[in-house]
Amino acid sequence: GLPEYIKIVEVGPRDGLQNEKVIVPTDTKIELINQLSKTGLPAIEVTSFVSSKWVPQMADHKEVMRGIERYPGVQYPVLTPNLQGFHSAVSIAAGATEVSVFGAASESFSKMNINCSIEESIERFEEVTKSARNMNIPVRGYVSCALGCPYEGNVVPDKVAEISKRLYSMGCYEISLGDTIGVGTPGSMKKMLEAVMKEIPLSALAVHCHDTYGQALANILTAIQMGVAVVDSSVAGLGGCPYAKGATGNVATEDVIYMLNGLGINTGVNLCAVMEAGNFICTALNKKTNSKVAQASFNF
Ligand code: HMG
Ligand code: MG
Repeated sequence: GLPEYIKIVEVGPRDGLQNEKVIVPTDTKIELINQLSKTGLPAIEVTSFVSSKWVPQMADHKEVMRGIERYPGVQYPVLTPNLQGFHSAVSIAAGATEVSVFGAASESFSKMNINCSIEESIERFEEVTKSARNMNIPVRGYVSCALGCPYEGNVVPDKVAEISKRLYSMGCYEISLGDTIGVGTPGSMKKMLEAVMKEIPLSALAVHCHDTYGQALANILTAIQMGVAVVDSSVAGLGGCPYAKGATGNVATEDVIYMLNGLGINTGVNLCAVMEAGNFICTALNKKTNSKVAQASFNF
């Protein structure tokens, strides 16, 4: 049956804002994260410790980490592609207490996104997880292109299962399966999850759906019907990936919560409060929300 509780991992401040064309002021990011912290969300991905030459939007990572109010019971993970990023994330100047490594099930995407092969990335992530273990820092692991690659097209479920298993074996407590370019359907989601579930406990799986083809909610419903109880989403449906041209935002947090509320599944998140945070960031960015629920609710 369906899980009774679903953990929402809010990725808007990172996956959303990394893709904005104009540089978002640090104070706006901090205000967004502080507002999100008050909604009941259990986890908010704050920023990335990546090269500012590659992703200028995340160059203020330390300032954002220092500026936010950290609410008890809320996790604030950050992306760290290598040891350099890890050290900078956990430095006193930033103070991260949870990190995420991000790999891919596609060789071309790995090269374009993090400038190394899958094999090299696994070595880098092993260094990160080893250092993290010594410091008692939990590490989450992403597998991008889990349902398709912008460069290679089809990605076989067994490849996703293999990379997931390697990340899990090195100590990632959770594996987030990324439909980076939103091409998946309930059919491909089911096949992919069946392959991954043979290698990894269901309780360690999350889905991370982009909505490029309008399939995200259907794919999430498929995943939760199979027992997945962690869902990544982005306030106002912000976002995309700078190394996946044309990829739109993640599924909107508002829309996921609306669906889960309707299914009677507890998230602990206040939908109205998330909509207010969504309204704040859309006003600040001068753009229209991608959340259908927010569009419907602000229209009357
Ligand atoms: P590189 O150029 O291959 O690294 O970058 P390098 O080791 O050869 O070093 C070159 C320069 O980068 C050096 O500086 C390093 O200090 C610096 P220089 O001497 O030239 O001045 N450097 C760093 N600087 C800051 N932080 C670091 C770091 N590492 C090296 N951690 C690197 C490799 C991974 C850093 C680069 O390719 C990069 O930053 N890529 C950006 C990756 C990214 O942020 N992608 C978007 C997020 S992933 C995503 O959106 C997908 C996801 O949402 C899931 C899904 O949807 O599927 C997670
Ligand atoms: Mg993403």
